[in-house]
Amino acid sequence: MKIKSSSEFVLLAFLVAFCAVGVCQGGSLTKNFYRDSCPNAEEIIKNATLKHVTTNNQLPSKLLRMHFHDCFVRGCDASVLINSTASNTAEKDAIPNLSLSGFDVLEEIKAELEKKCPGIVSCADILSLAARDSFQKPMWEVRTGRRDGRVSLKSEVSTNIPSPFQNFTVLKQFFENKGLTVHDLVVLSGGHTIGIGHCNLFSNRLYNFTGKGDQDPSLNPAYAQFLKSKCRSLTDTTTTVEMDPNSSLDFDKNYFDILNQNKGLFQSDAALLTNKGARNIAKELTNQAKFFTEFAQSMERMGNIGVVTGSSGEIRKKCGIIN
Ligand code: HEM
Ligand SMILES: *[C@@H]1O[C@H](CO)[C@@H](O)[C@H](O)[C@H]1NC(C)=O
Ligand SMILES: *[C@@H]1O[C@H](CO)[C@@H](O)[C@H](O)[C@H]1NC(C)=O
Ligand SMILES: *[C@@H]1O[C@H](CO)[C@@H](O)[C@H](O)[C@H]1NC(C)=O
Ligand SMILES: *[C@@H]1O[C@H](CO)[C@@H](O)[C@H](O)[C@H]1NC(C)=O
Ligand SMILES: *[C@@H]1O[C@H](CO)[C@@H](O)[C@H](O)[C@H]1NC(C)=O
Ligand SMILES: *[C@@H]1O[C@H](CO)[C@@H](O)[C@H](O)[C@H]1NC(C)=O
Repeated sequence: MKIKSSSEFVLLAFLVAFCAVGVCQGGSLTKNFYRDSCPNAEEIIKNATLKHVTTNNQLPSKLLRMHFHDCFVRGCDASVLINSTASNTAEKDAIPNLSLSGFDVLEEIKAELEKKCPGIVSCADILSLAARDSFQKPMWEVRTGRRDGRVSLKSEVSTNIPSPFQNFTVLKQFFENKGLTVHDLVVLSGGHTIGIGHCNLFSNRLYNFTGKGDQDPSLNPAYAQFLKSKCRSLTDTTTTVEMDPNSSLDFDKNYFDILNQNKGLFQSDAALLTNKGARNIAKELTNQAKFFTEFAQSMERMGNIGVVTGSSGEIRKKCGIIN
């Protein structure tokens, strides 16, 4: 690249500095990082993950969401796995942790790897790989070489994980803060084709949208009726509904079919239709082959956010505890 002006130089310097703090898409991960140091690592993770999926068909949704929450707070450094201590309240104990689970599975996989190759395989890579391997067929590539972070703060969650009540502008900003685009935002929201949501995260849309006992006009009325039969009041914090009611265990493009019929569960889903560009992307993604291709690319970008590599961070002995 030829630098033509001082303003271009400033821009370049800015980008370099930006990359140094880990916001830019790290090219430092590699394919099969543990090839020499722990040759069976990836296979051990895959086998163990699939074993757990046979007895827990919700594991893929749990791990996919956990991977997202990890990557958006301090990068994909397994900070989401750290337990709170007497002197620190960790990410796990922040409000949006509702139904985060699968910690025990990751800890078990970690223990197995520690037996085979102690101190080699990071929890950050275990989570990244297990999230992918929990699906029947590999849907995206996972490069490895992430190391584990040493900090996990409850206070950093709400400023980095978007809430389901947010509008398009805010969602776009949260993704841009991680170096992701509107395209990534729409594509990755397709993760909501599996899994569940708690009533209290959308029941305002059913019962009190603007504080006048009203319903969200952007929500499909027939679907609102159906949701009301599940979520009986604004105070229900325990009932859950499937986000993609007819195939919540299948990773397919149905999320986009539903979204386009104004049946997105959260305001943050519906918000994707409020922007012309995002709305067009949501239409395109009703083509399943296209969705799968795009999802793979966006997941790889998400899996690169703020990765800790080289000699930074550590390789935790247990995923729940900093060494
Ligand atoms: C665009 C911003 C996003 C918002 C506001 C959001 C919000 C939420 C909320 C509120 C839930 C329900 C949690 C519960 O009630 O237990 C949820 C579930 C889920 N999210 Fe997202 N999410 C977003 C993006 C993503 C991304 C990028 C992914 C992954 C690619 C993802 C994957 C999932 C999955 C798989 C579940 C189901 C979890 C389960 O079944 O326990 N979400 N999300
Ligand atoms: C993983 O599972 C396959 C198929 O069951 C088996 O052949 C292989 O030996 C397993 N690998 C490890 C490292 O356990
Ligand atoms: C979520 O946070 C709450 C309170 O902050 C805590 O009691 C709960 O155990 C956490 N859930 C998970 C799955 O860590
Ligand atoms: C989106 O939400 C933010 C924060 O709640 C608010 O400041 C902003 O005005 C909203 N934007 C639109 C277009 O509604
Ligand atoms: C609906 O919202 C309004 C305004 O926030 C509040 O005063 C009212 O109590 C709410 N209604 C219910 C049933 O919670
Ligand atoms: C699920 O399938 C049923 C029966 O085919 C249909 O009536 C319903 O509208 C579907 N649900 C959604 C959210 O599309
Ligand atoms: C983390 O906390 C959970 C819940 O309190 C506990 O079951 C788990 O064993 C802890 N993990 C570690 C590594 O101590």
